[in-house]
Amino acid sequence: MFVGIRSLPAQLSYSGMRNSCLIWSSDFHFRAADWPLVFYTLSVVRALCYLRRMPSIANLECSRCRKTVSARTPQTVCPDCSGSLYVRYDLGPSRGTVARDQIAQQASSSPWKGMWRYAPVLPDAKPVTLGEGWTPMLPSRRFPNVSLKEEGANPTATFKARGLALAVTMACHYGLKKLAVPSAGNAAGALAAYAAAAGIEAHIFMPKDVPFANYIEATVYGAHVHLVDGLISDCGRIVAERKEKEGWFDISTLKEPFRVEGKKTMGYELVEQLGWEYPDAVFYPTGGGVGLIGMWKAFQELEELGWVRPGKRPRMVAVQSSGCAPVVRAFEQGANVSQMWQNAATFAAGLRVPKPYGDSIMLEILRESGGVAVALPDDQILASLKDWARHEGIFLSPEGAAATAAYGHLLATGFLTPKDRVVLFNTGGGLKYTDVMAEALGLRRSAVEV
Ligand SMILES: Cc1ncc(COP(=O)(O)O)c(C=O)c1O
Ligand SMILES: [Zn+2]
Repeated sequence: MFVGIRSLPAQLSYSGMRNSCLIWSSDFHFRAADWPLVFYTLSVVRALCYLRRMPSIANLECSRCRKTVSARTPQTVCPDCSGSLYVRYDLGPSRGTVARDQIAQQASSSPWKGMWRYAPVLPDAKPVTLGEGWTPMLPSRRFPNVSLKEEGANPTATFKARGLALAVTMACHYGLKKLAVPSAGNAAGALAAYAAAAGIEAHIFMPKDVPFANYIEATVYGAHVHLVDGLISDCGRIVAERKEKEGWFDISTLKEPFRVEGKKTMGYELVEQLGWEYPDAVFYPTGGGVGLIGMWKAFQELEELGWVRPGKRPRMVAVQSSGCAPVVRAFEQGANVSQMWQNAATFAAGLRVPKPYGDSIMLEILRESGGVAVALPDDQILASLKDWARHEGIFLSPEGAAATAAYGHLLATGFLTPKDRVVLFNTGGGLKYTDVMAEALGLRRSAVEV
């Protein structure tokens, strides 16, 4: 039962005569049997008060031509130029460090945990949450100025949970019933979980050779799973061709505004976890680039809000595998867009995105931040994965290991020094890749005679 705010006084003053055990509380009488109703009512009041902290969206703004679009109905990309849309709010009421410091103070008592601590900069909709965000920032045991943002701690064990929690929240807000996504694997698992939590349909298209865990999780969560003989780009084409006829809303990377909005919470978190200060560099394993774009948006907002100590924004480092490195090639060539990468192949499945939709936004961010794009071969990525497992006790995803490998590489080239304060993103937990890892390490189970 939902108790509307207008009916609250009536609910609170309710007092029955059948039970003789009455509890006197200044103005109200409560029977012991009423307490569940009272607690429920209070939790609804608390949730409603909390929702009121969330800003209404002023509009959606095109990342290319700056056209503004209303957020009153569901939107995909800019109607004029097909650029990705950013969510814009009036951040005025949350400006200043008093509002900022309330975030930590109110986090433990808020009805929604994790990334929803940033309610004042997220859309005002009732969250569909499984506890995503506020992941650990682990100091490295060997490199004094390195912290690892452990996104494997999210529901479905990757950072994809953040973007899809918000995209599904907004889908529910708009009353959408059928969502479709092309995925390299982990976004599929996350969409399947949040769609199940929200009671809506998920239609998933992913390469037939995704890590097995992605196939299993999506199936277990009850999604409609389609394995495609091709890459994520082929999956995207199929979704685009079928969505109208099937009545699907397409929540592809950067083709709707809210996955970026969820992923931006990584930028807020890393700054808060470093004492509201920027690090010198952020390493991000890059496929479609939503996290990189989201974090940069967070930094812009943090400055507008006055929540971050004045200082230079971090150098953003996009990390890819040499087997699929369209952003690195474009960066090195000084190009503004990437070219389709032929025969993309890497064991870091999430990085197998041959032509990211947000390539031009990423390239702009990398250059503006004084950052760089780096590609490393899979054998170096695997070596770093083993190194971090054995010496830090952390089972990285192959994508996360691309970031740790790139850190070593950029120290060696002199792009960074050991004194630079650095955040490396482990975007997922290694345990999602048991089949991939078994193959990479040549592991097979065999019984031992005792
Ligand atoms: C574990 C992991 N890391 C990184 C990425 C790349 O993320 P994005 O496409 O947002 O750049 C993915 C994408 O699937 C992923 O699953
Ligand atoms: Zn536009």
